[in-house]
Amino acid sequence: MKIIKTNFELQTEILKIKKQKKSIGFVPTMGALHKGHIELVKQSVVENNISIVSIFVNPTQFNNENDLLNYPRTLEADCRLLIQETNNHFVFAPTVKEIYPNPDTRQFKFGNLKTTMEGKFRPGHFNGVAQVLSRFFEIIKPNRAYFGEKDFQQLVIIRELVKQLNLNIEIISHPVVRDKDGLALSSRNIYLTPNQRENAKIIFNTLSESKKEKKYFPIYILKQIVINKINSVPNFRVEYFDIVDGTTLKSITNWDDSKHIVGCIAVHVEQIRLIDNIIY
Ligand code: PAF
Repeated sequence: MKIIKTNFELQTEILKIKKQKKSIGFVPTMGALHKGHIELVKQSVVENNISIVSIFVNPTQFNNENDLLNYPRTLEADCRLLIQETNNHFVFAPTVKEIYPNPDTRQFKFGNLKTTMEGKFRPGHFNGVAQVLSRFFEIIKPNRAYFGEKDFQQLVIIRELVKQLNLNIEIISHPVVRDKDGLALSSRNIYLTPNQRENAKIIFNTLSESKKEKKYFPIYILKQIVINKINSVPNFRVEYFDIVDGTTLKSITNWDDSKHIVGCIAVHVEQIRLIDNIIY
């Protein structure tokens, strides 16, 4: 596996790959890799001739300076894990200057996709995600790009980005990868104390129960049940829980309103923010 730090070096490799008419699978990450990322990379390796993983903590998608400063940066361990667990070909780990030689002032228009749920509590976040991915897509020109369904809203926005920019990239999503007790894998889980980690299983348990109970309750009651149950754990606070159409991300009020219904949640465990979702 080759580790590349500059656009120039990467573009030289891309040129060679394209000349040989080989397909490129791209897995964008911010590092602190876990089993969820590894699943994406394995899929990319199987489905493409060449697989590229980017490891870049993108400053423009953070709306909280401390969150950006404290985000785990574990490049060496990440590369070791990729070598041990996958047959990935390239890691692209650029500096901020490589990706943003000048400040990126582009504003993407995603309508309510950008302002609802995560967008409400992390203003600017998805604009930053769109900025960095459009840069990566331009540099790497992948045939396929791989994303986890844990960041469900991000996935919907990336599909919209690719449509708006008219890019010929297939966006492939992978179901949420979970620990044995159901907690969605996340780079942020390492910050949970053992006690918080134990309690955090309530998030997926409650979402799963809500799926079973859906036939008994109207949506607005079910939402409240989920919120109350998670809020009853000391130091757990639901930031939002919404039940939305999986394509438009608009809240739905009736189970018959859509054929693709997703419940999306964000929970604060003191300073740590966890997100998850369930497909109803
Ligand atoms: O999901 C992430 O880790 C990031 O938002 C992404 C897609 C790598 C863009 O920085």
